[in-house]
Amino acid sequence: MKPKVPKRPLIMLTLNVAETYNKLIEQSQNQQKTKTNMTDEKGYFIAYENQLVTGYATEYTIKKALGQGSFGRVMLVEYRDGSNSQQYAALKICRAQPYFIDAMKQEIIIFKMITASYPQMTANFLEEFQVKEHLCYSMELFDLTLYQALKQTQGLGFDLNQIKVIARQFGKWLVEMQKLKIVHTDMKPENMVLNKTDISDIKLIDFGSGVLMDQPSRPTYIQSRFYRAPEITLGLRYDYKIDCWSIGALLFELHTCYTCFPARSSPMLMKMFVSLMGLPPRELIMNDEGVLRAKVEKYFAKATVEYWNDHAEKLKAVGLSQDSYIYLSEEVLDVEDRQQCFKRQLRDLMVNKQWEGTAGHTQEDYNNFFELINNLITWRTEDRWCGQQILQSAFCQ
Ligand SMILES: Nc1ncnc2c1ncn2[C@@H]1O[C@H](COP(=O)(O)OP(=O)(O)O)[C@@H](O)[C@H]1O
Ligand SMILES: [Mg+2]
Repeated sequence: MKPKVPKRPLIMLTLNVAETYNKLIEQSQNQQKTKTNMTDEKGYFIAYENQLVTGYATEYTIKKALGQGSFGRVMLVEYRDGSNSQQYAALKICRAQPYFIDAMKQEIIIFKMITASYPQMTANFLEEFQVKEHLCYSMELFDLTLYQALKQTQGLGFDLNQIKVIARQFGKWLVEMQKLKIVHTDMKPENMVLNKTDISDIKLIDFGSGVLMDQPSRPTYIQSRFYRAPEITLGLRYDYKIDCWSIGALLFELHTCYTCFPARSSPMLMKMFVSLMGLPPRELIMNDEGVLRAKVEKYFAKATVEYWNDHAEKLKAVGLSQDSYIYLSEEVLDVEDRQQCFKRQLRDLMVNKQWEGTAGHTQEDYNNFFELINNLITWRTEDRWCGQQILQSAFCQ
């Protein structure tokens, strides 16, 4: 029979050395395991300052976080290049879950398609690799996003001369992506980066929701709400024109410093659409028999006498008359009109008075700017300008 060992460390170490030693090893191995566990319970990579991440050809040291989204994290990292000089990069680390890994695989394919044909459009792609279950890729680092650059103007926005420089770049991207049959689907200021305040060389990033037009099915839950096109909101088939819409809303915002459609829900977004563009054309919301499509019932109501009688005041307030071919649903009518959106006229909203009197802000300049935005913010995709038309617009000359 084994002698009973008192649970006191000194005695344990002396009396039962082997057993104690093994226990200590086991404990330390368990600690190591939790230390090297790189994934939290939601699948995110657990990153800390000065952590080393071994890439395919490069070793990176994590410095700080740049962003976090549903897909994973983007970190600022430091590394040594071939001549041993210190460099920085952005490292996008995917969540360790099959859905996100597949999405990042597609993102990398699109990123590489773009850099192969139009490297000027986006950041330099450095390398892709795997850290445990986390798919990662590193890319050229930029100082700030266009969102941050706009904030830095402190409410002044970019003047129309700068907007012209920006619009030409957007137009070029749209032309190039159309050629590659890629829809970005998430064109917004957070997905555009630049160095310092060099607005003449903006890069489009984040192809994480990118869609290849040739792929058999297209996701339907796309685009951030502020920049979401009517065809997405209405659940219709879409193409590259959804990016043109976002660019219209974004150009508006970059000059005015106001979000064009600051909607907090999709009914609110629909209300704002109708306020700026009037009712949608029939073919967008009804089938050939004149029946409202199921997906839009949430936003519209049949134009019946009873409905008019019950909601006449609200319907009139949003500019509808009794003989409108369709009415707005109760849900849309009841959206609180915080932005006073039914008093809005696009042409008036686009003027940023702070630039009044400065070069490049004449009536004619604004007419040209209005023509551009008005041809991007349209219900019908057939009417909406594409990249080529943006480049050919009077505003961009
Ligand atoms: N190359 C880069 N340079 C500087 N910041 C970047 C870069 N890539 C991403 N970021 C920052 O990280 C954020 C998230 O990256 P993004 O690729 O847009 O991922 P998500 O899918 O979460 O939107 C960006 O909005 C930006 O702030
Ligand atoms: Mg993004």
